[in-house]
Amino acid sequence: MPKSVYVFDAYGTLFDVNAAAREAATEPAHAALAEHWPQVAANWRTKQLEYTWLRAVAGHHCDFWQVTQDGLDWALEAAGLHDPATRARLLDLYWELTAYAEVPAVLATLKARGAKTAILSNGSPAMLEAAVKSAKIADMLDALLSVETVGVFKPHASVYDLVGAHFGCAKADVLFVSSNGWDAAGAAGYGFTTAWVNRAGAPIDRLYAKPTHVLPDLTTIPEVA
Ligand code: LAC
Repeated sequence: MPKSVYVFDAYGTLFDVNAAAREAATEPAHAALAEHWPQVAANWRTKQLEYTWLRAVAGHHCDFWQVTQDGLDWALEAAGLHDPATRARLLDLYWELTAYAEVPAVLATLKARGAKTAILSNGSPAMLEAAVKSAKIADMLDALLSVETVGVFKPHASVYDLVGAHFGCAKADVLFVSSNGWDAAGAAGYGFTTAWVNRAGAPIDRLYAKPTHVLPDLTTIPEVA
């Protein structure tokens, strides 16, 4: 049965977080990345997320832009890369990450049938506004909900509370979509119907709840709920 509210995680789900390192690696000024970019991208993402979880547990919140820089600094040092210009270029690219190819069509389908659509993300409001503008999907989203409103990262329940608070909807009205297995599990544990977009074919996370749907990409979102 179709839902009335479709909520998407941002980074990794709508936007390709590997795009920054992949693109910079093709630029002559950052040729040193050519050999290392997959590892830099993977470490950048892993550290960025670890820092969100640790800060949430320890009660030391900062915004997602700070953990994005901190994760990159760890990843660049691990790769033996110390060029400030490469660091700056990677961070600039993070504000205009490529959206996955199917994103505009999926959002357009949901909007055409009258559903509400939103992003619910760790990203700061400025980061999310820049990302949707760059990907030209701003007019297909009814809300950009950021953890900055509650000052703690996912998967804290107060983050998922933002959806009901914004749309005045029940948990049962929502399909929450994330490519991050821990975020899909967190939202499932919270009580949302969830879709885990498992682009990488990863094993399912062994956490306290399981996603309702597991999909290879976003294409079938309008069909599953
Ligand atoms: C986000 C991170 C988890 O957008 O990707 O919230």
